[in-house]
Amino acid sequence: MKPRCAAPVVDLHQTGALTARLNAPMVGMRDLPLARVYRLIEPGPVVLVSTAHRGRANLMTMSWHMMMDFMPPRIACIVSSANHSFAALRATGECVIAIPAVRLARTAVGIGNCSGRAADKFKRFKLTPMPAARVSPPLVAECFANLECKVTDRRLVGRYNLFILDVVKAWIDPAQKNPRTIHHHGYGKFAVDGRTIRIRSAKP
Ligand SMILES: Cc1cc2nc3c(=O)[nH]c(=O)nc-3n(C[C@H](O)[C@H](O)[C@H](O)COP(=O)(O)O)c2cc1C
Repeated sequence: MKPRCAAPVVDLHQTGALTARLNAPMVGMRDLPLARVYRLIEPGPVVLVSTAHRGRANLMTMSWHMMMDFMPPRIACIVSSANHSFAALRATGECVIAIPAVRLARTAVGIGNCSGRAADKFKRFKLTPMPAARVSPPLVAECFANLECKVTDRRLVGRYNLFILDVVKAWIDPAQKNPRTIHHHGYGKFAVDGRTIRIRSAKP
């Protein structure tokens, strides 16, 4: 039986098209260094990760994260082992993901360019720590959303620095209307979230 919606089958080997395609560079396409790929597959808003370890709170900037599930909201994120935050997250298993709007863009870049080993970043960047409900690290009052998270899977930490987090409590600041998030394109270049459009879709 003929499958429905079947595309017409063309044998590329017979037409010689495949050989031609493999040998010639594609018209209008240039080689893209693999080191730049991350700038294209940019996952989501730049966020701040708040941790607390040995009585000290710290912040780092993060853009390598990904939603994994709806309920509980589950997030995968990469935290380099070179970062001070890595040790705190691994030891305590807790963090807050604080989401800044564009007005905090310079602050987010500043936080991502220095280490909490030496500096108190809350003080240095004039941010206000607020007690969280379910975890020890503080919320960031100036961010429009704060997600209290617990590490639920560490199996890929050793191999990829990849932490799986479950959001256990979430906060939104109703005073910040239509916050525009920032999205990292590498080395200080960001896209700012802008126009929204609506298209009918059954998917959540
Ligand atoms: C825009 C931006 C995005 C970043 N994203 C990440 C990330 O996803 N993962 C990571 O490990 N470091 C990321 N960093 C780097 C850390 O924020 C940076 O190394 C920071 O100084 C770590 O602070 P800490 O040593 O106090 O933990 C990013 C930095 C910037 C500026």
